[in-house]
Amino acid sequence: MDTWTVTILLHYLLCASLVQSAPVDLPSNLPPAFRETAVEAKTLSEKILKDISAAHTAAVTDFNLDSSSQMSNLQMLAVSMGIPSSPVLKVLSEHFTLDMCVSRMLAGVQMYQNLLEILSSRASGLEDLKADLRDLLNHINKLMEAQLGADHSDQNPISDLDSHLQDSYSVQVAVHMTLTQLRSFCHDLNRTFRVLITYRP
Ligand SMILES: *[C@@H]1O[C@H](CO)[C@@H](O)[C@H](O)[C@H]1NC(C)=O
Repeated sequence: MDTWTVTILLHYLLCASLVQSAPVDLPSNLPPAFRETAVEAKTLSEKILKDISAAHTAAVTDFNLDSSSQMSNLQMLAVSMGIPSSPVLKVLSEHFTLDMCVSRMLAGVQMYQNLLEILSSRASGLEDLKADLRDLLNHINKLMEAQLGADHSDQNPISDLDSHLQDSYSVQVAVHMTLTQLRSFCHDLNRTFRVLITYRP
């Protein structure tokens, strides 16, 4: 390696480590209620993760929650049935602010609530999960109020999932894929709430 290459490499390494250790861009004047609500919301997201397994066992017989076989086929099917993918929760930074983060959490929970509402008229065993999501939505709304002083209405487009649930196989696919996606979204939520809770100005 010549000096130039080494310089460039060092530059990239340095930038990468700076990005990683950059302070989280949270406002220093978050009200105490924000942290308390975030703690409760985190507990709820962990409860939901447990309830997802129970709901899956009760409602889905054709697929296993932990099996990744056929995943790409099932993903394509899910998209074609009107099951959108989760909002992406990035690491907080000046480009992904707390406001954006809380809005996306809210949009995601609302989206899954809407999907479960549709699915629960075709499959049983989803009631606990629906109640959990309603609870979590209230908490995230409180975070939104504490942070932005505003309540947000549901901005999600209405899913046409119901019109695709023609037979029991499509119901199985839809419940399986919704719960699989929700589980991964809840892992993101659990991680994000942790950041919000442990933040110290
Ligand atoms: C949620 O996050 C905590 C760390 O804050 C971790 O210990 C726990 O395992 C996570 N829960 C789940 C269900 O992944």
